[in-house]
Amino acid sequence: MVMSNDSHRQPPSSGPSDEAAPGTAPYPAGRPYVCPPWIGRLLVSPLRRLFTDPRRRLGPHVRPGMTVLEPGCAMGFFSLPLARMVGPTGRVVCVDLQATMIDGLLQRAKQAGLDDRLVPICGTLDDPRLEPYVGRIDFAAAIHMVHEVPDGAAFLRRLHDLLRPAARLLVIEPRWHVPAAAFARTVERARKAGLVELDPPRAGRPRSALFERPAERAP
Ligand SMILES: C[S@@+](CC[C@H](N)C(=O)[O-])C[C@H]1O[C@@H](n2cnc3c(N)ncnc32)[C@H](O)[C@@H]1O
Repeated sequence: MVMSNDSHRQPPSSGPSDEAAPGTAPYPAGRPYVCPPWIGRLLVSPLRRLFTDPRRRLGPHVRPGMTVLEPGCAMGFFSLPLARMVGPTGRVVCVDLQATMIDGLLQRAKQAGLDDRLVPICGTLDDPRLEPYVGRIDFAAAIHMVHEVPDGAAFLRRLHDLLRPAARLLVIEPRWHVPAAAFARTVERARKAGLVELDPPRAGRPRSALFERPAERAP
């Protein structure tokens, strides 16, 4: 494990880059939306499992021993199942810019006996604590969070750089927040970041797309 668990509460290192494009969410300009903690608590309700099975969604991409990145993890509806999937030798790097979310995640992980498999980071993907992971992430899942990122293009470029060659990124967005055209913009930004789509993006319900960082070409 590269990071210790006690450094997760450092504040985010930086905000959006200079070339910040409007977010994909249908919110008024200048009013960035971030999911509040009370919704974070609802998102880990056992009732959600009736509609969403984390193992079915993520299992095909995760193997024991992997290092998985989950930006926008909130209180860990997907993080804890991911920690079970990567097993004792794997790690789930959980990044969220709200300390309340990370605190809730850690509390749930401790109760489940899974906290030693998590690397919690309170911040954004620009956080310097992620530097050791550049080019080393085996799989990343950005679920119901890209529409909250003010600079989606920079976010996807950073995700590209964090993935190892041939690693996958799964993006899932909620249909009730993200119109089809906004999701198409996210897919286009991912392409421009150098990611390649493995399946045709699904603009249905939910909106999802699976990408791969291309394997490096031989010199
Ligand atoms: C709607 S919640 C989704 C949580 C989780 N992925 C799930 O599906 O249960 C979005 C989360 O993303 C976090 N978030 C938003 N922008 C972020 C960013 N740039 N970096 C890290 N986390 C971010 C928010 O704090 C919030 O906890």
